[in-house]
Amino acid sequence: MAITTCVFDAYGTLFDVASAARRAAEEPGRAALAEVWPQLAEDWRRKQLEYSWLRAVAGTYVSFWQVTKDGLDWAMEAAGLDDPELRERLLALYWELQAYREVPKMLAQLKAKGLSTAILSNGNPDMLDGAVDSAVIGDWLDAVLSVESVGIFKPAQSVYDLVGARFGCAPDEVLFVSSNGWDAAHAAAYGFQTAWVNRAGAPMDRLPGKPHHVLSDLTTLPELV
Ligand code: LAC
Repeated sequence: MAITTCVFDAYGTLFDVASAARRAAEEPGRAALAEVWPQLAEDWRRKQLEYSWLRAVAGTYVSFWQVTKDGLDWAMEAAGLDDPELRERLLALYWELQAYREVPKMLAQLKAKGLSTAILSNGNPDMLDGAVDSAVIGDWLDAVLSVESVGIFKPAQSVYDLVGARFGCAPDEVLFVSSNGWDAAHAAAYGFQTAWVNRAGAPMDRLPGKPHHVLSDLTTLPELV
């Protein structure tokens, strides 16, 4: 079936989650962070996701903002950083993450082709609004869908159901785009057409679904529809 709707994961796909730690490390007086920021960013992201999956399995939902804070606290302790002011700064920067360079043009091209566009994210709505506003991409998005309305994180099926509920489209009319291999795999198993944005050249996840397309960034995405 022809694609009518392009749906994007947010964190790591449209927004560069490492940009918070990278930008903070560039600020004056951040020598301790400058030494460890790549590992801190990696640990922060990994723990944020682990906590989201564990809470989904255990049925103990809290907002994505809470698991983001919990992940940062683990990562800062692992890095030996005991600095409440730095913690506040990193969290503030998470509300204004940088979009990847190619994102605005890519979204504009999709809209020019007449597609519906949306974000489908674990993020809570106010976090997502902050990131969309600071990246100035709201004009090219028809919807920002958050898991908050179903109270469980990806890859729960009820999250992917939000797309059909909002747009009234069949799963195979949707091109779902994620940089998270596990998200792309589950979205493919759900029945979406999927593109995995594999910026890091990671191996494919061994999970039930297989992404239909593998891209190194979002530049060529409009050519798929
Ligand atoms: C999201 C996370 C999984 O935006 O990246 O949903």
